[in-house]
Amino acid sequence: MTVSTSVPYLLRAARGEVLDRPPVWMMRQAGRYMKEYRDLRDKYPSFRDRSENPELAIEISLQPFRAFGPDGVIMFSDILTPLPGIGIPFDIIEHRGPVIDPPIRSQEQINKLQPLEPESKLPFIREILQTLRREVGDRATVLGFVGAPWTLAAYAIEGKSSKDYTIIKSMAFSEPAMLHQFLEKLADAIAIYLRYQIDCGAQVVQMFDSWAGQLSPQDFETFALPYQQRVVQQVKATHPDTPMILYINGSAGILELMAKTGVDIVSVDWTVDMAVARQRLGANIGVQGNLDPCVLFGSKDFIRDRILDTVRKAGKGGHILNLGHGVLQNTPEENVAFFFETAKSFKY
Ligand code: CP3
Repeated sequence: MTVSTSVPYLLRAARGEVLDRPPVWMMRQAGRYMKEYRDLRDKYPSFRDRSENPELAIEISLQPFRAFGPDGVIMFSDILTPLPGIGIPFDIIEHRGPVIDPPIRSQEQINKLQPLEPESKLPFIREILQTLRREVGDRATVLGFVGAPWTLAAYAIEGKSSKDYTIIKSMAFSEPAMLHQFLEKLADAIAIYLRYQIDCGAQVVQMFDSWAGQLSPQDFETFALPYQQRVVQQVKATHPDTPMILYINGSAGILELMAKTGVDIVSVDWTVDMAVARQRLGANIGVQGNLDPCVLFGSKDFIRDRILDTVRKAGKGGHILNLGHGVLQNTPEENVAFFFETAKSFKY
């Protein structure tokens, strides 16, 4: 394998190079735990403005990069961002979260959805990703991301965040053909959107199927896995060299199935021991994770011990250090800084 120093660290590791430490970034790296973000949010209260006005989205994406120097810079956006482009408007409301009104409940609504044309519907993405690439150069890897079909369908059908997913599961178990049609349309739109992100500059992409861990393994194989595979196959067909990461929250019972999607890296939460995850996934696939985000509320010694424990259990190479889910809102910024410093000073 050719070793090039102008290729950023995370991208090299994601392509399978063994480096002298694991690269590190954090899910939800930009956002409310940062004072700088909260100040900007006071000035620009609309989430859609902050994520769809390129100047704001670029500035927010770069806040944690300037503060902590992570190996990855994820574009500031949301998994719901492409939905208006296929005909599903949304908003994100303070203290309530995502709202989709009207929610998708009927065949007629599904029939009316449009294929995604990212250049006309999501023009801000090109400027955000191109500028991020220019700004970070070879000092970090620019990450794009999408939500997977099941998780996007869950928001669109429930209309908001849900605890028990009663509405989408009722549809799954009583009108499966209708849900399958919706998932298919979402998968095709997401694949188009991922290809577009890569064409605009994303060097590694992550698919979040955050709520697919709420499915029993047999339902996961029916309603989540085939559509994750459909996205991965379509993206790999045109962009085979872009590493793909898959994240699912609560994935300990379906880890082996995640490896069947065709992604390069499986992002694991903290409910599975990293050494066990490695064993179960095998040597041919990378891992990302897996500190409990609450570890960052502990003492510095505790945080250091947990980082070392995870890195050792993951073994040399094929590991991207990360949390097991997004960084939490009230996390002390100095502990985030300590997390990155400690991770970057580690040597195998
Ligand atoms: O800079 C980055 O790291 C990108 C950050 C990011 C956001 N959303 C910004 C955001 C990412 C990676 C997402 C993905 C996302 N969005 C997921 C998958 C990741 C996961 O956590 O499992 C999901 C499930 C969503 C849907 C969503 N959007 C939720 C659950 C929320 C939080 C609602 C709330 O208010 O607690 C959002 C809103 C959102 N997306 C915020 C941020 C920073 C908070 C709103 C704000 O800052 O005003």
